[in-house]
Amino acid sequence: MSSNKIILRIRGLVKKYKLPGRELVVLNGIDLDVGEEFVSILGPSGCGKSTLLKIIAGVEKPDGGAVEFYISNTPRIGFVFQSPTLLPWMTVRGNVMLPLIAKGVREEEARERARRALTLVGLAEFEDFYPHELSGGMKQRVNIARALAVEPDILLLDEPFSNLDPLTAESLRSEVVDLWLSNVLPIKAIIMVTHNVEEAVLMSDKVVILSPRPARVIREVRIDLPRPRSRKMVEVQKLVDEVYEYVSQ
Ligand SMILES: Nc1ncnc2c1ncn2[C@@H]1O[C@H](COP(=O)(O)OP(=O)(O)OP(=O)(O)O)[C@@H](O)[C@H]1O
Ligand SMILES: [Mg+2]
Repeated sequence: MSSNKIILRIRGLVKKYKLPGRELVVLNGIDLDVGEEFVSILGPSGCGKSTLLKIIAGVEKPDGGAVEFYISNTPRIGFVFQSPTLLPWMTVRGNVMLPLIAKGVREEEARERARRALTLVGLAEFEDFYPHELSGGMKQRVNIARALAVEPDILLLDEPFSNLDPLTAESLRSEVVDLWLSNVLPIKAIIMVTHNVEEAVLMSDKVVILSPRPARVIREVRIDLPRPRSRKMVEVQKLVDEVYEYVSQ
């Protein structure tokens, strides 16, 4: 599911953090086009991947460059954060409703949308549970449901599977790809940060590789393979090897 229609254009993006007595340049001229596609972002730890997602989401402001959306001036963005962000004193339902209530969605509608999103991730029966009553995989499903409940145009995923055991990660990966391909949601693009080269090749239409900090895009690799994909496919292995080469440069 990849088309040439541009959804998001990033040009010359610069981000600096002010530290006591000095400045840390994190992003140093990121250029990236995202079409109606699934894009993975790879790069060394600390290079600025999460910062890039936060700028796309409007949570952080850049110091230079531009992020332009070609869907609407106020695109809806769903964000699955890298660190766990479920509020322990709220139920699963409450957690998923939170961003909707914050946006001014009426309680009744927020409840309905939360239910739909939780059904999509297979957690309809756990609405009344509290986060501590869930497994790690279920918590991550709630995080995903919360991002889906805003009915996002763009879904941002920051290492969504990295804290899960391999089997849970595997099934969540297929669920996310299935959701994306099924068109039940209006999502136009997914941008996922990952450290897992194989995951990037199996899931995406395009893999973007960033340099060490300050980050720039050093390579884009198109993954034009039919789905479903398997790690056993020779073409997948070839692309995994190719991406590894660039990541380890
Ligand atoms: N709010 C902040 N204030 C100061 N420095 C920050 C802030 N947020 C991030 N940084 C710094 O910016 C750099 C990039 O951080 P970021 O979280 O974007 O990296 P990352 O590529 O996502 O790393 P990882 O793969 O480990 O998650 C790091 O050196 C980090 O210390
Ligand atoms: Mg990060």
